[in-house]
Amino acid sequence: MAGILNDSDFTRFRDLIYGESGIHFSETNRSILESRLRERLRLTGHQSVGDYFTHLKRDGEELKEFLDSVTTNLTRFFRNTAHFETFENFVIPDLITRKKTSSDRQIRVWSAGCSTGEEPYTIAMVLMEILPPGYSVKVIASDISLKSLMTAKAGYYPTQRVTGVPERYLRKYFLEKDTGYQIHPDVMKNVTFDYHNLKHSNGVTSLDIVFCRNVLIYFDDAAQKVTVDHFWNAMSPYSYLFIGHSESLFGMNTQFEFVRTDWACVYRKTTGTTGVSR
Ligand SMILES: C[S@@+](CC[C@H](N)C(=O)[O-])C[C@H]1O[C@@H](n2cnc3c(N)ncnc32)[C@H](O)[C@@H]1O
Repeated sequence: MAGILNDSDFTRFRDLIYGESGIHFSETNRSILESRLRERLRLTGHQSVGDYFTHLKRDGEELKEFLDSVTTNLTRFFRNTAHFETFENFVIPDLITRKKTSSDRQIRVWSAGCSTGEEPYTIAMVLMEILPPGYSVKVIASDISLKSLMTAKAGYYPTQRVTGVPERYLRKYFLEKDTGYQIHPDVMKNVTFDYHNLKHSNGVTSLDIVFCRNVLIYFDDAAQKVTVDHFWNAMSPYSYLFIGHSESLFGMNTQFEFVRTDWACVYRKTTGTTGVSR
């Protein structure tokens, strides 16, 4: 199918998306942008990309819908087992040892770019399974995709979406319902979902762990750096950051320490209050 964007339209839409979200569309991804745009034109009844662009600049709600439409929301429960092994066998035991010397008995996690909720619910379930008595779990989860957040908040997944969930977790933390599974209310109460654009700070502090997996890959270097600095500022002086296995902070000017474990690699914040090395 012929492209609907000439070069200058492509640049306008690409710059708008980047400016609003950090998501970078390269020339290679032009056809993906065009197909998502075609769908928005059809749904909103706009005849030309020029009219639609003008509309986008004026209508904040449509801008949110448009940004949602250009996101990739692929996710699954227990995605990347090695990360959850690192979480369970290395990160949590280390944080618990540290917390013993304080009165803090909560593990606070942010799932940034949580998509339809499988990641934050996995985190909450694993914490409920392994934390010693007396500890509470707080998982905050955010995304720029309102449609994904609706699914996440409902916490209901068709049977094919729970493949990969270990049997004992399925029995303990889900309720079988119709042709799928509902996340148990005890898990749901530990997870809160919010619309949040990673371009901005979320104002949260004292996080023990941030998961931001398979999100930075859609950003360019500058947007990745802004996002990672927001994480640094939201995290406790001693805390951990998980990013996707195909993502890296290599070459980025941050103070995160690269930690290689028996299972997977993770980043650690150990000191300071700012992510910017001077
Ligand atoms: C591929 S999914 C990753 C989901 C989950 N973290 C995982 O690894 O399975 C990427 C998610 O990042 C979200 N995202 C992209 N840009 C974002 C931004 N600027 N702010 C917040 N979320 C964003 C997308 O909406 C999408 O749901």
